[in-house]
Amino acid sequence: MEKLIITGPTPLKGEVEINGAKNAAVAILPATLLIDGVCTINNLPNISDVQILCKILEEMGAKITWNNNNEITIDTRNINKTQAPLDLTSKFRASYYLIGAMLGRTGEIQVGMPGGCKLGARPIDQHIKGFELLGADVIVEKGTITAKAKCLHSNSIYMDIVSVGATINVMLAAVLAKGTTIIDNAAKEPHIVDVANFLNTMGADIRGAGTDVIKINGVEKLHGDATYSVVPDQIEAGTFMLAAMASKGDVLIKNCITKHLESITAKIVEIGGNVEDNGDSIRVWYNKRPNKSNIKTLPYPGFPTDLQPQMGVVLATANGTSIINESIWESRFQYTAELNKMGANITAQGKSAIFEGVDELFGAPVYSTDLRAGAALIIAGVSANGITEVYNLQYIDRGYENIEEKFRKLGANIQRIKE
Ligand code: EPZ
Repeated sequence: MEKLIITGPTPLKGEVEINGAKNAAVAILPATLLIDGVCTINNLPNISDVQILCKILEEMGAKITWNNNNEITIDTRNINKTQAPLDLTSKFRASYYLIGAMLGRTGEIQVGMPGGCKLGARPIDQHIKGFELLGADVIVEKGTITAKAKCLHSNSIYMDIVSVGATINVMLAAVLAKGTTIIDNAAKEPHIVDVANFLNTMGADIRGAGTDVIKINGVEKLHGDATYSVVPDQIEAGTFMLAAMASKGDVLIKNCITKHLESITAKIVEIGGNVEDNGDSIRVWYNKRPNKSNIKTLPYPGFPTDLQPQMGVVLATANGTSIINESIWESRFQYTAELNKMGANITAQGKSAIFEGVDELFGAPVYSTDLRAGAALIIAGVSANGITEVYNLQYIDRGYENIEEKFRKLGANIQRIKE
């Protein structure tokens, strides 16, 4: 087992380069199954979810060449399986994108129930509703999902709840379906736009991604023969913006799209932080103890749930009493118990948490409970007085490439130790 040992406090100072977006990459890779050809994808984050997906695609017949640490060329002309390795698909959430992509390509797929961070129930009823409206039969039994469609057809689909995964999955299934499919009440996250841009680069005809109505005109086939660069990771960029604030530092975050960070920028300025927006990089610096704030997580362009734990670390030592309302997930405050071990004073009840600001945090052994909670605990360790040990790194490695190296380059005293 591995752990991170962090000695704080260290004000983070310097520059950090952001990788490609995990939540775009884990959809774009399955989307290659729709292509009868060869394509190249760069700015790919080299994280464990991507590595597992590449293994799944190879087991299904894809040929993958790693041109460098963050670029692959993938040949999906000879996909010879309609079952994804059940043991691998349960290791992460995004395996469900294999359903939309393979329904579009062959009309048949069987995958294991998706895994992923334990944030609550995480149902997939909207995915299934979309597939059925496009003409597929979906059976969920004994931990597997089997989807079959003789011939997918277009339809108008209203999403009962704004869902990133369901929006992308229905888009994947509709790309080669005859006719025009409309997705209404669609999610608008930057990674949804990125998946649509990727598919259009390969010959699809998708309009309106990034708005709440997406129109997909079915095409005969996707040609590939193109190179696509994954969008910079809005959540990784936000993670380092909030790390600058929590650690009382001054950080320039490079290779990001600041338009995607507007809700985080607004909150940092509101609590008294400083932000300099340079379009493709953003500088965040601290010059006084943050004021209290109230946060409500919402679908994009609202404050992202995936930055809620990281914001919690900033509010844990802010002036006064702050409240976070987590509107997306039923159980995303597990990290607050770990912060309380470090001297925070947080009361979490259901989908809300009350943060009584304390003067400082103290180092302690803490356990990551999900990907973003893990990132938050690293930020807390860098900001705290003393030595912090962060366990359960497998969660963090799913979504952040070389995270301890990035923090070390910003001055943090952080080591990864094999126990
Ligand atoms: C994606 O999860 C992200 N994961 C999550 O990021 C992120 O927290 C979430 O979107 C919200 O932005 C990936 O992209 C791989 P949803 P997803 O479908 O697609 C309910 C991270 O840290 N819902 O947008 O699973 C659901 O329960 C991860 O990178 C249904 O009720 O999220 C939730 O309350 C964690 N039925 C809400 O919708 C459905 O069929 C939003 O979920 C689908 C979802």
